Amino acid sequence: SARRVLCLAGSLRRHSWNRRLLHAAALQAPTGLQLDVHDALAAVPLFDEDLESRDPAGPAGVQALRAAVAAADGLLIATPEYNQALPGVLKNALDWLSRESPLGEVLAGKPVAVLGASSGPWGTRLAQASLRQVLHTCGALVMPAPSLFVARVAERFDARGWLTDTATLQSLQSFLLAFDAWMERVARPAALEQP
Ligand code: FNR
Repeated sequence: SARRVLCLAGSLRRHSWNRRLLHAAALQAPTGLQLDVHDALAAVPLFDEDLESRDPAGPAGVQALRAAVAAADGLLIATPEYNQALPGVLKNALDWLSRESPLGEVLAGKPVAVLGASSGPWGTRLAQASLRQVLHTCGALVMPAPSLFVARVAERFDARGWLTDTATLQSLQSFLLAFDAWMERVARPAALEQP
């Protein structure tokens, strides 16, 4: 059966390049890989331990996100770069996901791949570095290579929002194949997941 990958864009705006990149990835996912682009970061409130002590499962938006992460075989995160780091919206969601909950610590042991697109010439290098650091802290199994930095992103999509740049399409294709192999390599055997 297909490996299921939950795709998260670290941007809330409707025309986010990073979300478009994920949709492009979903369209060209290799056989055996199913990519679902999840749009739920807007429903995740600012992290607050008081909210947590009211309900260990967290607010509804957090519960939905956590359940989606728990159910996925892997997580694909497309991060924008804000002031040379990951955006607060994404960090906030990861802070929620890092916590103990009725579903456990859902990032611990989860295979994750990181990519990103920015308008600048470096293509989210520093944002991805900061995102990796946070994910490592949460116990996620972050794919070490290849990297995918989409610089000057507006030049790579057409007016209708389709990814048309051949080099980027090819990088995306090999990135997804590498992530499939990474998930295969680090996946916990199903039997070990039973308590
Ligand atoms: C940016 N942007 C940006 N780009 C970059 O390459 N390096 C950076 O440090 C920053 N910093 C930054 C800060 C803030 C507050 C904003 C709003 C933007 C530009 C950024 O790459 C661009 O807005 C992307 O289009 C954001 O990604 P989405 O929303 O299109 O996915």
